[in-house]
Parts: sequence; structure tokens; C-alpha cells
Amino acid sequence: MSHTLAKHILAAEESQTLAIANRAKAMKSQGIDVVSLSTGEPDFPTPDCAKQAAYNAIAHNFTHYTDSNGIKELRDAVAEKFRTENGISLANADNILITTGAKQALVNTLAAICNEGDEVIIFSPFWVSYPAMVTMTGATPIIIKTLAEHDFKPTPEQLRDALTPQTKCVIFNSPNNPTGMMLTREEMGQLLAVLENHDCYILSDEIYEKLTLGRIDHCSPGSFPSVAARVCTVNGVSKAFAMTGWRIGFLHAPPEVWKQASKVQGQVTSHPSSIAQKAALGAMLGAQHDVQTMREVFCKRKELICRLMSAIPAIAFAEPQGAFYVWADISRILTKEIPSSAAFCEKLLADYHLALVPGEAFGEQGYIRLSFAASDEVITRAIERLAAMVNDMMA
Ligand SMILES: Cc1ncc(COP(=O)(O)O)c(C=O)c1O
Repeated sequence: MSHTLAKHILAAEESQTLAIANRAKAMKSQGIDVVSLSTGEPDFPTPDCAKQAAYNAIAHNFTHYTDSNGIKELRDAVAEKFRTENGISLANADNILITTGAKQALVNTLAAICNEGDEVIIFSPFWVSYPAMVTMTGATPIIIKTLAEHDFKPTPEQLRDALTPQTKCVIFNSPNNPTGMMLTREEMGQLLAVLENHDCYILSDEIYEKLTLGRIDHCSPGSFPSVAARVCTVNGVSKAFAMTGWRIGFLHAPPEVWKQASKVQGQVTSHPSSIAQKAALGAMLGAQHDVQTMREVFCKRKELICRLMSAIPAIAFAEPQGAFYVWADISRILTKEIPSSAAFCEKLLADYHLALVPGEAFGEQGYIRLSFAASDEVITRAIERLAAMVNDMMA
């Protein structure tokens, strides 16, 4: 009976990262010693100031419906953050939406702007959910493949060539999941210059903003006056404050987009949990030190995983500039028996009990993604298992 179901939903893919994490969890529950570098969440506890804010919210019965756009104090704090930290001078509480994670901010925005026949440009490798989110609106994802020799950064020429009169939106994600790539201000400026005379929206997913690990500073498209009025900026507390389970994201959008995104939210979820909103506010006001500590730990882990991976010469990778992922090229070791990164990850999990995500989940063959949001011990054991499989394949 599947022909009676919604075609836009049927056309969208399931999240492969969640599927792998679920399989690893199921193996663990059977008592198998599975090591996982597949998850995309910080392994730190949520900062105490956020937890305390949540306890206080419950104690003071802040447990009812809130403004469907999010509580005013949090919208004020987010607007202030966007203005002062990101240079988005147009941000004010009236065009901020507090959402159920960054995911809902992205979906609300795409729902607000996309029509059937519209095209949305996505750079690959891409975060798993973008194409599905676009497909579910009825619009068409247009994938531009970035190249290893360009450090997985799109070039202005590539973007120019992909633009058509149907281009409704271009999605940027820097720092990038899965490559760890970051665009410098100059590179972002060159890409945005291509869009100056093209009437489309720019959707910037900045969820890894606080996780910069190298010398490149984070840069928000919304801080470029030439395009600022068309930029929708998405962020949230999930990655910055180790608050993935609280489900709080933020959207800043031009007034006409904001109005429709707000309508979607009001009709679909009303608003995120009142308690989680208070916790997010607690984090934003008091957890800057925790963020800095986590960032320093991630920098050390990046060095550890890069050092360990360097001892596997058959795998090529570039040092990530941001987020907490290593994007590694395994194409040289694939064989007739193990012809794809999906097959490689299947065997790695089944025989070596290591969960990684294959490049196919991010639109790319021949790659694997390793998350270093894990302890030094887990990272070390994981790379030992990866090395063992590579050695066995090459023996
Ligand atoms: C690039 C990117 N955007 C958005 C999200 C979703 O964030 P949230 O958990 O706040 O919905 C993720 C989560 O992995 C991500 O990697």
C-alpha cells in the first residue's frame, strides 16, 4: 500500500548515522565489547549552571506553555549573541525563534521558503539530514561535490555553475560535519559575492561554531551586509554546551521567513520544553568557561586521533579545523570483496566491533567519518581496531 503514502516523505532517506548508532547500541546490550566513534555528540556532562536553571524552572513551576517563539529572555540572549559574537547586526528578539534543536530550525526554515520545483544547493560531503529535509518540502536538493584537493571547500566557480533561476536557497555549514572544514572570512566572502545578484536565501548552519580547533575563526554569512537581509542563521546549545538531549536550537531569519517559520512551529510543536529553554538560558549566561574547557579537550583529542591515524599510511586524511570529526579516505584499501565504505563499516562493526559512519551517509564514496567526541581511551582502542582491519585487508 506504499503508493498511498506521502511521496515527499517516501523519497527522503532515513538517517544512516542514527541507524549505525542504534546497531552499535544493540550489540552492546548483547554484551559485545563495541567501541563507537559514530556519534555526533559531546561526551561531557551538561554544565552545572544549565542543570541548576532547569531545577529552578521545575521548582518554580515553570512547566507550562511558553510563547511559541520561545521565552523572551532566551530570545534576547540569542539576539545579543548573534549581534556581538557573530556580527549579525540585524538580529533582535523579534526575529529569533527558539526551536526543538537546530534540526527543527532548519526544517522550519526550509518549510517556510521551499516550493515544489525549487532547488536548494547543498555541498557534499553534507550533513546527513540536509537532502532529506529539502526533499520533504517537495523541493529538489542540488548536490555540489567539493574536492579533497580544495580541502572540501566549495569554489565560487562551482557555486556559480550550479545557480539556476530555480535556486531558492544555498546551505552553508562551517565548521563542517563530516569534514571538519572551515571557511575563512575571505573564502566565505568570495562565495557570497557569487550570490549577491542572485535572489535566493542563504541558510547557514553554525551548530559547531564553538568547536574551532585550528587557526581559522568562525565566520557567519549574516555578518556580510551585501547579503545579510537574505541570511537565515541556525545555531543552538547541543554541541557548544553538551546539551544534545535538551533539544534547543535557535533561528535568526529575515522577517518574512521568520513569520512563516514561526507559524510552522506554532502549528506543529508549539515550542520546545519550557524547562529546556531555561536550561539553555542558564548555559548561555554562565557556561562560557565550560565551553572553553571542552574546546581545549577537543583540541587535544584531535591531536591524539590525528597522531594515531598517521600510523595507518593507507588511510589519508586532513587535520580538521573545526567540529569533532576526522574525514578519512579509505579508497586505496577497498577491494572486490569490500568494495565500498558501507561494506567496510559493516565488516568493521561485525568483526572488529568498531562503529564508524561510512561516507555514503554524507553523499560520498570511499570515505569514513570518525568522531572524536570520546575519551582518549576509547579513541585509542578504536584506532587499534581500525588498524587491525586495515592490516588484515592488506595482508
Ligand atoms: C551539521 C549539523 N547540523 C545540525 C545538527 C542537529 O543539531 P540538534 O541536535 O541541535 O538538532 C547536527 C547534529 O548532529 C549537525 O551535525
